[in-house]
Amino acid sequence: MSKKIVIANWKMNPSKVAEAKKIYNGIKKGVTKIRGVDTVVCPPFVFLPELAKLGVTKKLALGVQDTFYEETGAQTGQVSPAMVKGYKAKYTILGHSERRALGESSDLVNKKVRHAIVEGCTAVMCVGETERSDEGDYFRVIREELEVGLAGVKRADLSKLIIAYEPVWAIGKRAEEALDAPALYEMVLFIQKVLTELYGRAPAQKVPILYGGSVKPSNAKEFVEVGKVDGLLVGGASLKANEFLDIIKEIV
Ligand code: 13P
Repeated sequence: MSKKIVIANWKMNPSKVAEAKKIYNGIKKGVTKIRGVDTVVCPPFVFLPELAKLGVTKKLALGVQDTFYEETGAQTGQVSPAMVKGYKAKYTILGHSERRALGESSDLVNKKVRHAIVEGCTAVMCVGETERSDEGDYFRVIREELEVGLAGVKRADLSKLIIAYEPVWAIGKRAEEALDAPALYEMVLFIQKVLTELYGRAPAQKVPILYGGSVKPSNAKEFVEVGKVDGLLVGGASLKANEFLDIIKEIV
């Protein structure tokens, strides 16, 4: 996969819509000059309509950080892919570890993934172990999250799927505390192996695999060059337009 994808997960930030618009405009302006990368910004739901008004471009798309598995209904607090599509959101991050930590199971993630794809929204399904032991138990964790999360997702649906590998222990840290790039490459090969078992080699290879967890301008390039990921899912560093743009520039 030559074209890279970089996704900004703003999480529950910033606190004011004016600030959200400022960051978004900064990113929008900056990405016009960068080739070979697709950029996606996933703000909190409430900012989506305002950011949609600022516009999306060929290089900059909008997404959200979660969506439910039904279009409408008695589901207090939930938002559906159909609703966010009306505000130009084409991507939905599903199964983020911060949601799994609140009790979201892989079964629930699976329902959300399948529904998002049916609605034509690209599902960015997150997987990641909470800790790494010497015995390599984390491979089992990732296999299970992939197999359960993708149950019922067909080969024909894969064009609407992105896998984001985010080791939970590496989130929200300094650059030096992120996963090291050779270990990332090992995990990328493992994820490709599981996807190959599920879908066959050629279809599996087309599914983009992203890395997330303390991505900064200083370590971004290694993740792509040595870790061989197709892109990055960026949290904290995506809240400053310049820092986020520096990350993107590092990988082109
Ligand atoms: P940080 O980049 O802040 O570590 O967050 C990673 C993440 O969870 C993105 O989804």
